[in-house]
Amino acid sequence: MATVISDSKSRPMDDNTIIALLSGKGPDEALFEEADRIRREIYGDAVYLRGLIEISNYCRNNCYYCGIRKGNTKLDRYRLDKDTILACCRDGYHLGFRTFVLQGGEDPYYGDEPYGGADGDALLCDIVSEIHTRYPDCAVTLSVGERSRESYQRLFNAGARRYLLRHEAASPDLYRTLHPAEMSLENRMRCLYDLKEIGYQVGAGLMVGAPGQTLEHLLDDIHFMQKLQPDMIGIGPYLRHSDTPFGKSTAQCAQGLRKEQKLELTLRLLAVLRILFPFALLPSTTALGTIDPNGRELGLKAGANVVMPNLSPADVREQYELYDNKICTGEESAQCRNCLELRVISAGYRIVTDIGDVKRTASEGNANHGTE
Ligand code: 5AD
Ligand code: FES
Repeated sequence: MATVISDSKSRPMDDNTIIALLSGKGPDEALFEEADRIRREIYGDAVYLRGLIEISNYCRNNCYYCGIRKGNTKLDRYRLDKDTILACCRDGYHLGFRTFVLQGGEDPYYGDEPYGGADGDALLCDIVSEIHTRYPDCAVTLSVGERSRESYQRLFNAGARRYLLRHEAASPDLYRTLHPAEMSLENRMRCLYDLKEIGYQVGAGLMVGAPGQTLEHLLDDIHFMQKLQPDMIGIGPYLRHSDTPFGKSTAQCAQGLRKEQKLELTLRLLAVLRILFPFALLPSTTALGTIDPNGRELGLKAGANVVMPNLSPADVREQYELYDNKICTGEESAQCRNCLELRVISAGYRIVTDIGDVKRTASEGNANHGTE
């Protein structure tokens, strides 16, 4: 019988310990083992599958790090229409997916303000409700950025139940250096709290090794998430995109962490997050797989319990390039799914194809129940 875990969703750890763990003062093996032990206590060896559909690479924002920023004029823009998105869901359903994540830039076409005489909110709500009606045994997750509370409520009413919105940086100074003046941390936080209040399962998160980020910044992120109590936390290494201000700046490149350092720090942070947020759903991200061919397997072993294979149509994948050399741009959905299944097994876990909601109490844990 596993030791009883308190129902409190977050465990205490003092700041000095967090910083020591992140800076690799202790042996990483012991840290990863502890994270894995906790993860197995709550989730067993289950790894949840989320099918990622990149619905649009149009974006009204200009984040300095992001390849699909408005200012990147080299990029061919695309958006998927309803039928194409539904076709992705149909293929995904047959491949065993029970969660569809609709992710995109902040595309005004699907936005919450009037655009070209059309109502973007209504368009997106219609797509969500159609998926919800056709696949009542599936969860619809949205990841389409900052919107009004009313819009979040409408999308919830249409059937969306989860929302991913990385906070990116909880420290105002770092947030400011990563984003242009027209974006604000206050609004980002307002969005996250609105989503929670409406009743979404909410995902926050950040990039590890973002230009100018220190361990103290990561500590601020942790403190913020201890307040927010997100159900999902998405983290991955920051990777350069050559057609962004950060990617072009040689100073930024020279100052930043080396590849191996970013990989190590991401894995340590994943493990610390698993210990602090035992119940959280933590994806082993595509960015982790891009920085190291074995990155996603290492992420799973450090506490991650979600993988998100790409279900987008193969002919648009290259255009959703948030950073250079993003993996999985040439593969079909079935190939991505099979590739990830093999990786999950080789890391010592198994893919489960149920809806995979977040567990909130120890008694919901499946470690000792064997079956899904
Ligand atoms: N490197 C790594 N992650 C990035 N993202 C955006 N640009 C980059 C980059 N250059 C992340 C952001 C965003 C998520 C969808 O992708 O954290 O929230
Ligand atoms: Fe699209 Fe930042 S550039 S959200």
